[in-house]
Amino acid sequence: MMALPIRLRLAAWYFAVLAVVLSAFGLSACLEMRHSIHRTVDEELQIRAEGVRQLIERNVARGDEDNLQEGLREHTELRMGGALLQVSDEQGNWIYRSPVMSDYGAPRMLPPPKGAVDFMTKVRTPKNAVAPMPLRICTREVNVGGETYLIQSAFEMDDFYEALNHFALLLWISIPLLLVSAAVGGYWISTRALAPVDQITQTARSISAQNLSSRLVVPNTGDELQRLSETLNGMLERLEAAFKKITQFTADASHELRTPVAVMRTRAELALRKARSAEEYQEVIAEVLAELEKTSALIEQLMFLARADSGGQTMNFTPTNVGEILREACHQGSALAEAKQIGFQENIVGEPMWIKGDATSLRRLFLILIDNAVKYTPASGKVEVSLHRNDGFAVAEVRDTGIGIAQTDLPNVFERFYRADKARTRELGGVGLGLSIGRWITEVHLGTIEVQSAPGRGSIFQVRLPLAKATA
Ligand SMILES: Nc1ncnc2c1ncn2[C@@H]1O[C@H](COP(=O)(O)OP(=O)(O)OP(=O)(O)O)[C@@H](O)[C@H]1O
Ligand SMILES: [Mg+2]
Repeated sequence: MMALPIRLRLAAWYFAVLAVVLSAFGLSACLEMRHSIHRTVDEELQIRAEGVRQLIERNVARGDEDNLQEGLREHTELRMGGALLQVSDEQGNWIYRSPVMSDYGAPRMLPPPKGAVDFMTKVRTPKNAVAPMPLRICTREVNVGGETYLIQSAFEMDDFYEALNHFALLLWISIPLLLVSAAVGGYWISTRALAPVDQITQTARSISAQNLSSRLVVPNTGDELQRLSETLNGMLERLEAAFKKITQFTADASHELRTPVAVMRTRAELALRKARSAEEYQEVIAEVLAELEKTSALIEQLMFLARADSGGQTMNFTPTNVGEILREACHQGSALAEAKQIGFQENIVGEPMWIKGDATSLRRLFLILIDNAVKYTPASGKVEVSLHRNDGFAVAEVRDTGIGIAQTDLPNVFERFYRADKARTRELGGVGLGLSIGRWITEVHLGTIEVQSAPGRGSIFQVRLPLAKATA
């Protein structure tokens, strides 16, 4: 089932809630009005009943019981609206019954239950009465001079009930009208309020990889929609940056791959132009092979980074002794240094330093740093590798007395394809991926990597890796 649009749902909810509230209000207003009419009428009826009781008492006190009927008639005629009265004795004989009461055919009511002073009853006079009328009757039983009298004073309720019905009718007509207009108004308001959402949807739909630099229009309303647009724009910004990085990486990677392929091709083409001696062919093949080795190393680096980006680079975190790994890396590094006539010093503390790490990638990280140190240090320079424990961290340092890195380049050396001195490093065979791989490896081990350097004096690369809890 398809969900209703938000604006329709809002209007429906608005309608439902308002319907319940207004109905409850209408009902309680009617009930309260009816209750208050009855209260006023009842008070008046009780006053009248009391008046009659006093009259009977006075009559009996005077010993004038025979004229009681006459007295009651006078009383009803004199009193405004007091014409609705009937008094009977214990046997049910009428002592007095005002003409209006007998016209209505008002029945003789039962005496109030024991303990109650007055008893209020609603009566609709019989259909066959001269004038049918809804009455409210107050019945009071009084005992005067050994005689029991049942006084019943009544009130004609038709005007009140008519007013009440009128009021109810007004409510039941106006409430639905109010509801319909509120629902229409609610729908209109929510349509207006949600219009910017449609706009956001449309703009967002038009954004693709080709125009990732477009942004949503941010309404200056300070509300949720402004925050939504700003959040989406922030997300677009991050996406654009990530996308740019990927395209840049692809462009750089293809560029780096094109150069060696072009070199190999030229060499091979040149070699094939004319017949050559076996030595000459061997020389070309050796050159091509050297290029191929560099290229496959480059491809391997690219694949490592691609796997790292996609989360596919598998890591096998086990308790690893950093000292041992660093010593292995130094073993390879010292051979490189020796070949370049560079002094190599290893300064690794004897005690094992355990971290939770992936031995293969840690070895790779140290080799990247040692390789750089040797590569960027001229002959007769010095490379020193050290490892010590500091504040819960294993701290590995690779120092060299090489060419150093300019201050302006320092913040960028960990970026992919960044080379401080393009011409020179290319000559030395670097493509600028080593340190970015190194940084990634350090970060997955929750460590940090930092560099200090002075051009012409050398560089210090420091890697801090958190020691495993038990050994920290
Ligand atoms: N020890 C160092 N001394 C001087 N410069 C260095 C040193 N280490 C790195 N750099 C500079 O930082 C740049 C980036 O180093 P990185 O190891 O990432 O790339 P690379 O050595 O050029 O190539 P590769 O991908 O083969 O390692 C280098 O090109 C170099 O300019
Ligand atoms: Mg390098």
